[in-house]
Amino acid sequence: MDDLKIRTTLHSDIDELLKLQKRVYPAIDPWQRDHLEEQLTMFPDGQLMAEMDGRVVGCASSLVILWNEWSDEHTWQDITAKGTFSTHNPQGLTLYGAEVFVDPEMRGLQIGHFLYEGRRQLCKTLNLRRIIACGRLPGYLPYSKDMTAEQYAKKVLWGDLTDPVLSFQLREDFRYCGIMKDYLPQDEESCGQAALIVWINPDYDPLRPTALQSALPSSN
Ligand SMILES: CC(C)(COP(=O)(O)OP(=O)(O)OC[C@H]1O[C@@H](n2cnc3c(N)ncnc32)[C@H](O)[C@@H]1OP(=O)(O)O)[C@@H](O)C(=O)NCCC(=O)NCCS
Repeated sequence: MDDLKIRTTLHSDIDELLKLQKRVYPAIDPWQRDHLEEQLTMFPDGQLMAEMDGRVVGCASSLVILWNEWSDEHTWQDITAKGTFSTHNPQGLTLYGAEVFVDPEMRGLQIGHFLYEGRRQLCKTLNLRRIIACGRLPGYLPYSKDMTAEQYAKKVLWGDLTDPVLSFQLREDFRYCGIMKDYLPQDEESCGQAALIVWINPDYDPLRPTALQSALPSSN
């Protein structure tokens, strides 16, 4: 798509981004302006936008974490420090996907794919080991009386069901690792639950420090 540009988010994008987020998640509290400002300060390279014809049509925001600190149960609120990304840790090896969304009127045009491609590229550029995310399960609610979220996710993996988010992430080469309970309680469509997913960076070089580690001031 020639007219699609994936680029880092600027402070001047925040107004449009907040408006878009309200349309994407009418039932979920939107980010607060100062939190978005903080995300840009904490980790500017991790905040990606999709722009088409000068309009904001999607975004993918990430931070870097020490995965061992979070690999058991965690919530979106805790791992993102309520959306401020003050949990961003340049020593980490894991790019954590905190959010991705595309304008509801522009879905199915591969904007999500190119945002994920931007994230994979960032992971490679920084020499990080992997990308981890907890993906919403927005198709789960109608099935929740008959099956657990784990059973639902397995049916998506087996191809018996399609989920608007998990099916997309599996096509983007992410692997399903299990259910994160109570991840985002206000997400009614997903019954508050999320699918833990991972993508392994094939180019990760464990003999080199990550770009973020290299940029840290020396402790001597
Ligand atoms: C998940 C999401 C980001 C995907 O964005 P997208 O731009 O539609 O993604 P793509 O176009 O790259 O891929 C969507 C897939 O659905 C298919 N599709 C076709 N028509 C579609 C439509 N009308 N709507 C959505 N997907 C459609 C696409 O062909 C593609 O399938 P493929 O990979 O087999 O080609 C988007 O659905 C979204 O914003 N969802 C709401 C926010 C959300 O829940 N985000 C996840 C947070 S964990």
